[in-house]
Amino acid sequence: MMRRAQIKGWGKYLPEKIVTNHDLARFVDTSDEWITERTGIKERRQRGEGETTTSMAVAAAHDALAVAGITPADLNLIIVANSSPDYLLPSPANFIQHALGATCPAFTIAAGCSGWVYGLTTAHQFIQTGAYTNVLVIGVEIISYALDYTDRTTCVLFGDAAAAVVLQPATDGSGVLTFELGSDGSQAHNLWVPGGGTVNPVSQSVVDNREHYIRMNGQEVARFAMRKLLSCLQNITAQAGMTPADLDLIIPHQANLRIIEMAARHLDLPMDKFFVNVHKYANTSAASIPLALVEAIEQGRIKPGDTIGMVAFGSGLSWAGAVMQVGVREPTLASVNGNGHAKVTI
Ligand SMILES: CC(C)(COP(=O)(O)OP(=O)(O)OC[C@H]1O[C@@H](n2cnc3c(N)ncnc32)[C@H](O)[C@@H]1OP(=O)(O)O)[C@@H](O)C(=O)NCCC(=O)NCCS
Repeated sequence: MMRRAQIKGWGKYLPEKIVTNHDLARFVDTSDEWITERTGIKERRQRGEGETTTSMAVAAAHDALAVAGITPADLNLIIVANSSPDYLLPSPANFIQHALGATCPAFTIAAGCSGWVYGLTTAHQFIQTGAYTNVLVIGVEIISYALDYTDRTTCVLFGDAAAAVVLQPATDGSGVLTFELGSDGSQAHNLWVPGGGTVNPVSQSVVDNREHYIRMNGQEVARFAMRKLLSCLQNITAQAGMTPADLDLIIPHQANLRIIEMAARHLDLPMDKFFVNVHKYANTSAASIPLALVEAIEQGRIKPGDTIGMVAFGSGLSWAGAVMQVGVREPTLASVNGNGHAKVTI
Protein backbone atom coordinates (compact mmCIF):
# COMPACT_ATOMS: atom_id res chain seq x y z
CA MET A 1 0.00 0.00 0.00
CA MET A 2 1.22 3.51 -0.89
CA ARG A 3 2.74 5.66 1.88
CA ARG A 4 0.72 8.79 2.53
CA ALA A 5 1.15 11.58 5.08
CA GLN A 6 -1.20 11.13 8.03
CA ILE A 7 -1.88 13.44 10.99
CA LYS A 8 -0.45 11.92 14.18
CA GLY A 9 -0.15 14.96 16.41
CA TRP A 10 -1.71 18.41 16.64
CA GLY A 11 -1.48 21.52 18.75
CA LYS A 12 -2.35 25.19 18.78
CA TYR A 13 -1.34 28.36 20.53
CA LEU A 14 -3.55 31.41 20.92
CA PRO A 15 -2.37 34.61 22.56
CA GLU A 16 -4.55 35.45 25.57
CA LYS A 17 -5.23 39.02 24.47
CA ILE A 18 -8.66 39.29 22.84
CA VAL A 19 -9.50 42.30 20.68
CA THR A 20 -13.24 42.61 20.05
CA ASN A 21 -14.96 44.56 17.31
CA HIS A 22 -16.03 47.04 19.99
CA ASP A 23 -12.38 47.50 21.02
CA LEU A 24 -11.45 48.34 17.40
CA ALA A 25 -14.40 50.71 17.03
CA ARG A 26 -12.89 52.86 19.82
CA PHE A 27 -10.05 53.99 17.56
CA VAL A 28 -11.04 53.10 13.96
CA ASP A 29 -14.10 54.35 12.07
CA THR A 30 -15.92 51.01 12.18
CA SER A 31 -18.58 49.21 14.18
CA ASP A 32 -19.35 45.77 15.56
CA GLU A 33 -22.44 45.78 13.35
CA TRP A 34 -20.51 46.43 10.11
CA ILE A 35 -17.78 43.87 10.85
CA THR A 36 -20.26 41.19 11.96
CA GLU A 37 -22.58 41.76 9.01
CA ARG A 38 -19.85 41.78 6.32
CA THR A 39 -17.43 39.22 7.73
CA GLY A 40 -18.94 37.24 10.63
CA ILE A 41 -15.91 38.19 12.77
CA LYS A 42 -16.62 39.11 16.42
CA GLU A 43 -13.14 39.07 17.92
CA ARG A 44 -9.52 38.15 17.22
CA ARG A 45 -6.37 37.42 19.23
CA GLN A 46 -3.40 39.75 19.36
CA ARG A 47 0.08 38.82 20.54
CA GLY A 48 0.97 40.05 24.00
CA GLU A 49 4.20 41.37 25.50
CA GLY A 50 7.09 39.03 24.69
CA GLU A 51 5.13 36.78 22.32
CA THR A 52 6.96 36.19 19.04
CA THR A 53 6.43 34.16 15.90
CA THR A 54 9.00 31.74 17.31
CA SER A 55 7.49 31.47 20.80
CA MET A 56 3.96 30.91 19.49
CA ALA A 57 5.11 28.33 16.93
CA VAL A 58 7.14 26.46 19.55
CA ALA A 59 4.19 26.31 21.97
CA ALA A 60 1.93 24.82 19.27
CA ALA A 61 4.71 22.46 18.15
CA HIS A 62 5.32 21.12 21.68
CA ASP A 63 1.68 20.09 21.94
CA ALA A 64 1.69 18.46 18.49
CA LEU A 65 4.84 16.50 19.37
CA ALA A 66 3.35 15.40 22.72
CA VAL A 67 0.17 14.13 21.04
CA ALA A 68 2.27 12.26 18.45
CA GLY A 69 4.41 10.84 21.27
CA ILE A 70 7.70 11.97 19.74
CA THR A 71 10.41 14.45 20.72
CA PRO A 72 12.09 17.23 18.69
CA ALA A 73 15.07 14.89 18.24
CA ASP A 74 12.83 12.49 16.30
CA LEU A 75 11.90 15.09 13.67
CA ASN A 76 13.24 14.67 10.13
CA LEU A 77 11.94 17.99 8.81
CA ILE A 78 10.24 21.18 10.02
CA ILE A 79 8.18 23.22 7.57
CA VAL A 80 6.91 26.60 8.74
CA ALA A 81 4.20 28.47 6.83
CA ASN A 82 4.55 32.14 7.68
CA SER A 83 4.45 35.66 6.27
CA SER A 84 5.14 37.55 9.50
CA PRO A 85 8.70 36.58 10.48
CA ASP A 86 10.46 37.70 13.65
CA TYR A 87 13.33 38.85 11.42
CA LEU A 88 13.68 39.13 7.65
CA LEU A 89 16.77 36.89 7.76
CA PRO A 90 17.12 34.05 8.49
CA SER A 91 13.69 32.55 8.00
CA PRO A 92 11.46 31.74 10.99
CA ALA A 93 11.97 28.01 10.52
CA ASN A 94 15.59 28.29 11.69
CA PHE A 95 14.71 30.15 14.87
CA ILE A 96 11.89 27.70 15.59
CA GLN A 97 14.09 24.66 14.97
CA HIS A 98 16.69 25.99 17.40
CA ALA A 99 14.13 26.96 20.05
CA LEU A 100 12.61 23.47 19.83
CA GLY A 101 16.03 21.88 20.23
CA ALA A 102 15.65 19.97 16.95
CA THR A 103 18.56 19.20 14.67
CA CYS A 104 16.67 18.39 11.44
CA PRO A 105 16.40 20.59 8.34
CA ALA A 106 13.89 23.40 8.52
CA PHE A 107 12.53 25.85 5.97
CA THR A 108 9.78 28.40 5.58
CA ILE A 109 7.04 28.61 2.98
CA ALA A 110 5.75 32.11 2.28
CA ALA A 111 2.51 31.51 0.42
CA GLY A 112 0.26 33.76 2.48
CA CYS A 113 -2.89 32.15 3.81
CA SER A 114 -2.33 29.13 1.54
CA GLY A 115 1.08 28.45 3.09
CA TRP A 116 0.14 25.69 5.51
CA VAL A 117 -1.61 23.59 2.85
CA TYR A 118 1.46 24.12 0.62
CA GLY A 119 3.46 22.82 3.61
CA LEU A 120 1.19 19.83 4.13
CA THR A 121 1.49 18.76 0.49
CA THR A 122 5.27 19.32 0.54
CA ALA A 123 5.57 17.15 3.66
CA HIS A 124 3.42 14.54 1.94
CA GLN A 125 5.95 14.32 -0.92
CA PHE A 126 8.87 13.67 1.46
CA ILE A 127 6.81 11.06 3.31
CA GLN A 128 5.56 9.38 0.13
CA THR A 129 9.06 8.98 -1.28
CA GLY A 130 10.23 7.39 1.95
CA ALA A 131 12.77 10.17 2.54
CA TYR A 132 11.30 11.25 5.88
CA THR A 133 9.15 9.72 8.62
CA ASN A 134 8.40 12.54 11.10
CA VAL A 135 7.55 15.94 9.64
CA LEU A 136 6.30 18.91 11.63
CA VAL A 137 4.23 21.45 9.69
CA ILE A 138 3.52 24.70 11.51
CA GLY A 139 1.29 27.61 10.51
CA VAL A 140 2.05 30.73 12.54
CA GLU A 141 1.28 34.41 12.09
CA ILE A 142 1.64 37.63 14.04
CA ILE A 143 -0.18 39.42 11.26
CA SER A 144 -1.09 42.28 13.64
CA TYR A 145 2.43 43.68 13.19
CA ALA A 146 1.69 44.36 9.51
CA LEU A 147 -1.74 45.93 10.00
CA ASP A 148 -2.40 49.60 9.49
CA TYR A 149 -4.71 50.47 12.35
CA THR A 150 -5.81 53.61 10.49
CA ASP A 151 -7.13 51.47 7.58
CA ARG A 152 -10.53 50.09 8.50
CA THR A 153 -10.69 48.01 5.32
CA THR A 154 -7.89 45.69 6.51
CA CYS A 155 -7.21 46.04 10.25
CA VAL A 156 -10.51 44.47 11.32
CA LEU A 157 -9.98 41.29 9.30
CA PHE A 158 -6.92 39.58 10.79
CA GLY A 159 -5.70 37.93 14.01
CA ASP A 160 -2.62 36.23 15.48
CA ALA A 161 -2.33 32.45 16.10
CA ALA A 162 -0.20 29.35 15.69
CA ALA A 163 -1.06 25.71 15.02
CA ALA A 164 1.04 22.67 14.21
CA VAL A 165 0.63 19.13 12.98
CA VAL A 166 2.97 16.12 13.10
CA LEU A 167 2.75 13.99 9.96
CA GLN A 168 3.89 10.39 9.73
CA PRO A 169 3.46 7.73 7.05
CA ALA A 170 0.23 5.74 6.89
CA THR A 171 0.16 2.58 4.81
CA ASP A 172 -3.52 1.67 5.27
CA GLY A 173 -4.73 3.87 2.40
CA SER A 174 -5.52 6.81 4.66
CA GLY A 175 -3.74 10.18 4.75
CA VAL A 176 -3.44 12.81 2.02
CA LEU A 177 -5.45 11.49 -0.94
CA THR A 178 -5.36 14.42 -3.37
CA PHE A 179 -4.25 18.03 -3.53
CA GLU A 180 -4.18 21.10 -5.74
CA LEU A 181 -1.78 24.03 -5.48
CA GLY A 182 -2.18 27.26 -7.41
CA SER A 183 -0.78 30.72 -7.98
CA ASP A 184 -2.04 33.69 -9.97
CA GLY A 185 0.78 36.22 -9.67
CA SER A 186 -1.03 38.59 -12.05
CA GLN A 187 -3.11 39.51 -8.99
CA ALA A 188 -0.17 39.97 -6.63
CA HIS A 189 -0.97 43.64 -6.03
CA ASN A 190 -4.46 42.90 -4.78
CA LEU A 191 -3.04 41.81 -1.40
CA TRP A 192 0.48 42.95 -0.61
CA VAL A 193 2.91 44.98 1.45
CA PRO A 194 4.32 47.56 -0.99
CA GLY A 195 7.32 48.71 1.10
CA GLY A 196 10.30 47.11 2.81
CA GLY A 197 11.54 44.84 -0.01
CA THR A 198 14.27 45.42 -2.59
CA VAL A 199 12.09 47.47 -4.95
CA ASN A 200 11.02 49.88 -2.25
CA PRO A 201 13.43 49.41 0.69
CA VAL A 202 12.65 50.68 4.16
CA SER A 203 13.00 54.46 4.22
CA GLN A 204 11.41 57.42 5.91
CA SER A 205 9.07 57.83 2.95
CA VAL A 206 7.98 54.16 3.13
CA VAL A 207 7.09 54.66 6.77
CA ASP A 208 5.45 58.06 6.18
CA ASN A 209 3.30 56.59 3.40
CA ARG A 210 2.48 53.55 5.56
CA GLU A 211 3.77 51.28 2.78
CA HIS A 212 5.15 48.78 5.32
CA TYR A 213 1.58 47.69 6.06
CA ILE A 214 -0.77 45.26 4.28
CA ARG A 215 -2.87 46.73 1.50
CA MET A 216 -5.79 44.89 -0.02
CA ASN A 217 -8.30 45.29 -2.81
CA GLY A 218 -11.05 43.56 -0.83
CA GLN A 219 -13.57 43.13 -3.61
CA GLU A 220 -11.07 41.58 -6.06
CA VAL A 221 -9.78 39.23 -3.34
CA ALA A 222 -13.32 38.25 -2.40
CA ARG A 223 -14.14 37.42 -6.05
CA PHE A 224 -10.97 35.33 -6.35
CA ALA A 225 -11.63 33.59 -3.02
CA MET A 226 -15.14 32.61 -4.00
CA ARG A 227 -14.02 31.23 -7.39
CA LYS A 228 -11.09 29.28 -6.00
CA LEU A 229 -12.87 27.89 -2.96
CA LEU A 230 -15.45 26.34 -5.27
CA SER A 231 -13.17 25.18 -8.10
CA CYS A 232 -10.46 23.82 -5.80
CA LEU A 233 -12.98 21.89 -3.69
CA GLN A 234 -14.48 20.43 -6.85
CA ASN A 235 -11.07 19.53 -8.32
CA ILE A 236 -9.61 17.87 -5.23
CA THR A 237 -12.73 15.83 -4.59
CA ALA A 238 -13.05 14.83 -8.26
CA GLN A 239 -9.43 13.59 -8.21
CA ALA A 240 -10.45 11.38 -5.28
CA GLY A 241 -13.50 10.11 -7.20
CA MET A 242 -15.86 12.06 -4.96
CA THR A 243 -17.90 15.24 -4.86
CA PRO A 244 -17.78 17.93 -2.12
CA ALA A 245 -21.02 16.42 -0.74
CA ASP A 246 -19.14 13.18 0.00
CA LEU A 247 -16.76 14.91 2.41
CA ASP A 248 -17.51 14.47 6.11
CA LEU A 249 -16.15 17.93 6.91
CA ILE A 250 -14.90 20.86 4.85
CA ILE A 251 -12.31 23.11 6.46
CA PRO A 252 -12.23 26.32 4.43
CA HIS A 253 -9.79 29.16 5.02
CA GLN A 254 -11.32 31.29 7.76
CA ALA A 255 -11.28 34.72 6.11
CA ASN A 256 -14.92 35.68 5.95
CA LEU A 257 -18.10 33.85 6.96
CA ARG A 258 -19.94 35.33 3.95
CA ILE A 259 -17.49 33.65 1.55
CA ILE A 260 -18.05 30.29 3.29
CA GLU A 261 -21.84 30.76 3.23
CA MET A 262 -21.75 31.59 -0.48
CA ALA A 263 -19.73 28.44 -1.15
CA ALA A 264 -22.26 26.37 0.80
CA ARG A 265 -25.13 27.88 -1.22
CA HIS A 266 -23.38 27.33 -4.57
CA LEU A 267 -22.61 23.72 -3.70
CA ASP A 268 -26.06 23.22 -2.19
CA LEU A 269 -24.49 21.93 1.01
CA PRO A 270 -25.62 22.61 4.60
CA MET A 271 -23.45 24.98 6.63
CA ASP A 272 -22.75 22.24 9.20
CA LYS A 273 -20.63 20.54 6.54
CA PHE A 274 -18.20 23.48 6.94
CA PHE A 275 -16.06 24.08 10.01
CA VAL A 276 -16.21 27.73 11.11
CA ASN A 277 -14.23 29.55 13.80
CA VAL A 278 -13.66 32.88 12.01
CA HIS A 279 -15.95 34.61 14.54
CA LYS A 280 -13.43 33.89 17.33
CA TYR A 281 -10.10 34.41 15.62
CA ALA A 282 -10.67 36.34 12.33
CA ASN A 283 -8.26 35.54 9.51
CA THR A 284 -5.05 34.11 10.96
CA SER A 285 -3.50 33.63 7.51
CA ALA A 286 -1.17 30.60 7.40
CA ALA A 287 -2.39 29.50 10.86
CA SER A 288 -6.04 29.52 9.78
CA ILE A 289 -6.45 26.02 8.30
CA PRO A 290 -4.36 24.15 10.92
CA LEU A 291 -6.06 26.09 13.74
CA ALA A 292 -9.48 25.11 12.37
CA LEU A 293 -8.27 21.53 11.89
CA VAL A 294 -7.04 21.32 15.50
CA GLU A 295 -10.29 22.78 16.85
CA ALA A 296 -12.33 20.41 14.69
CA ILE A 297 -10.39 17.49 16.21
CA GLU A 298 -10.80 18.85 19.75
CA GLN A 299 -14.54 19.29 19.24
CA GLY A 300 -14.96 15.75 17.93
CA ARG A 301 -15.98 17.02 14.49
CA ILE A 302 -13.44 14.68 12.87
CA LYS A 303 -13.86 10.99 13.56
CA PRO A 304 -11.76 7.96 12.65
CA GLY A 305 -12.27 7.06 8.99
CA ASP A 306 -13.67 10.50 8.03
CA THR A 307 -12.69 12.19 4.81
CA ILE A 308 -12.03 15.91 5.08
CA GLY A 309 -11.37 18.63 2.52
CA MET A 310 -9.27 21.72 3.21
CA VAL A 311 -9.09 24.76 0.92
CA ALA A 312 -7.06 27.91 1.49
CA PHE A 313 -6.69 31.08 -0.57
CA GLY A 314 -4.78 34.27 -0.03
CA SER A 315 -1.96 36.59 -1.03
CA GLY A 316 -0.17 35.68 -4.21
CA LEU A 317 -2.89 35.44 -5.10
CA SER A 318 -2.57 31.78 -4.23
CA TRP A 319 -4.75 28.83 -3.39
CA ALA A 320 -4.21 25.30 -2.09
CA GLY A 321 -6.45 22.41 -1.19
CA ALA A 322 -6.17 18.82 -0.05
CA VAL A 323 -8.42 15.86 0.67
CA MET A 324 -7.34 13.68 3.60
CA GLN A 325 -8.76 10.51 5.00
CA VAL A 326 -8.36 10.07 8.75
CA GLY A 327 -7.06 6.62 9.68
CA VAL A 328 -9.60 4.21 11.09
CA ARG A 329 -7.24 3.56 13.99
CA GLU A 330 -6.95 7.14 15.27
CA PRO A 331 -8.83 6.66 18.54
CA THR A 332 -7.36 9.55 20.50
CA LEU A 333 -8.43 12.38 18.27
CA ALA A 334 -10.03 14.46 21.04
CA SER A 335 -7.05 14.48 23.32
CA VAL A 336 -6.13 18.13 23.82
CA ASN A 337 -7.69 20.75 26.01
CA GLY A 338 -8.81 24.35 25.41
CA ASN A 339 -5.53 26.08 24.70
CA GLY A 340 -4.01 23.14 22.93
CA HIS A 341 -1.95 21.68 25.75
CA ALA A 342 -1.77 17.94 25.36
CA LYS A 343 -3.37 15.92 28.15
CA VAL A 344 -2.68 12.47 26.76
CA THR A 345 -0.51 11.02 24.07
CA ILE A 346 -1.23 8.38 21.49
C1 LIG B 1 -13.18 43.31 3.03
C2 LIG B 1 -14.65 43.03 2.73
C3 LIG B 1 -15.30 42.41 3.95
C4 LIG B 1 -15.33 44.36 2.41
O1 LIG B 1 -16.70 44.13 2.19
P1 LIG B 1 -17.43 44.81 0.95
O2 LIG B 1 -18.86 44.49 1.09
O3 LIG B 1 -16.71 44.38 -0.29
O4 LIG B 1 -17.19 46.33 1.24
P2 LIG B 1 -16.61 47.42 0.25
O5 LIG B 1 -15.13 47.22 0.11
O6 LIG B 1 -17.45 47.45 -0.98
O7 LIG B 1 -16.87 48.72 1.08
C5 LIG B 1 -18.18 49.16 1.34
C6 LIG B 1 -18.11 50.36 2.27
O8 LIG B 1 -17.74 49.89 3.56
C7 LIG B 1 -16.66 50.67 4.05
N1 LIG B 1 -15.86 49.85 4.96
C8 LIG B 1 -14.82 49.04 4.67
N2 LIG B 1 -14.35 48.50 5.79
C9 LIG B 1 -15.11 48.96 6.79
C10 LIG B 1 -15.12 48.77 8.18
N3 LIG B 1 -14.22 47.96 8.79
N4 LIG B 1 -16.05 49.37 8.92
C11 LIG B 1 -16.96 50.19 8.36
N5 LIG B 1 -17.00 50.42 7.05
C12 LIG B 1 -16.09 49.82 6.27
C13 LIG B 1 -15.91 51.05 2.82
O9 LIG B 1 -15.10 52.20 3.09
C14 LIG B 1 -17.03 51.37 1.89
O10 LIG B 1 -17.53 52.63 2.17
P3 LIG B 1 -17.93 53.66 1.00
O11 LIG B 1 -19.04 52.94 0.26
O12 LIG B 1 -18.37 54.85 1.76
O13 LIG B 1 -16.69 53.82 0.20
C15 LIG B 1 -14.81 42.09 1.52
O14 LIG B 1 -14.40 42.76 0.35
C16 LIG B 1 -14.00 40.85 1.65
O15 LIG B 1 -14.31 39.99 2.44
N6 LIG B 1 -12.94 40.69 0.83
C17 LIG B 1 -12.07 39.54 0.92
C18 LIG B 1 -11.09 39.82 2.01
C19 LIG B 1 -10.29 38.63 2.36
O16 LIG B 1 -10.80 37.58 2.56
N7 LIG B 1 -8.97 38.85 2.45
C20 LIG B 1 -8.05 37.91 2.89
C21 LIG B 1 -7.88 36.84 1.91
S1 LIG B 1 -6.76 35.73 2.51
